[in-house]
Amino acid sequence: MLTVALPKGRIAKDTLTIFEQIFGQEFKFDDRKLILETPNFKFLLVRNQDVATYVYHQAADIGVVGLDTLEEQGLDVIRLLDLRHGVCKVSIGMKKGEKIDYSKPDLKVATKMVNITKKYFHDKAVAVEIIKLYGSIELAPLVGLADMIVDIVETGATMKQNGLEVVEDIMESSTYLIANKNSFFEKKSEILDIYEKINKVRSE
Ligand code: PRP
Repeated sequence: MLTVALPKGRIAKDTLTIFEQIFGQEFKFDDRKLILETPNFKFLLVRNQDVATYVYHQAADIGVVGLDTLEEQGLDVIRLLDLRHGVCKVSIGMKKGEKIDYSKPDLKVATKMVNITKKYFHDKAVAVEIIKLYGSIELAPLVGLADMIVDIVETGATMKQNGLEVVEDIMESSTYLIANKNSFFEKKSEILDIYEKINKVRSE
């Protein structure tokens, strides 16, 4: 029996579709239920930011989560496989036409991805003030809260419609199949079996 943590929304749906393809049966959560039990799997429906937490603490053996979230959280889990869903970038955005002025002593960056942002500018040896936000990040440069933002860009529509544009890309992201380290030893054959089956479906 494997416990699988899935993030609510499209990624859970996509992942369950992959399992349906593999096993030729329907995997569907009832209405508001957060657990789906089948003879071989127990699926948990959790918030995107909580997937790695469930897996890290072994409340789930495996899970599916975006690389951006994994990098931001830095929890020690095994990254088994790039599922190549939910492809996006983590990028720096500024008001259209602006460029980062590295000579400015007090650059302000608004983001919900504080750790990724800190590491990026630290590696460049640029001191910035990071302003933590929880959403609607694109607003920050428009009202003078920050000089730039670090945010997820998928289609680019949100930045464009708010008069921003990408000035630098920090990383590419997509969803990954992850595993708990102990589970990977205790249930190695089960995990490798599902890994191989997903890998096969994914590359078809
Ligand atoms: C993300 C991100 C951007 C938007 C980018 O927000 O923060 O606002 O998607 O997508 P686009 O390039 O296709 O326009 P999300 O929908 O995850 O909501 P959140 O900000 O509330 O987390």
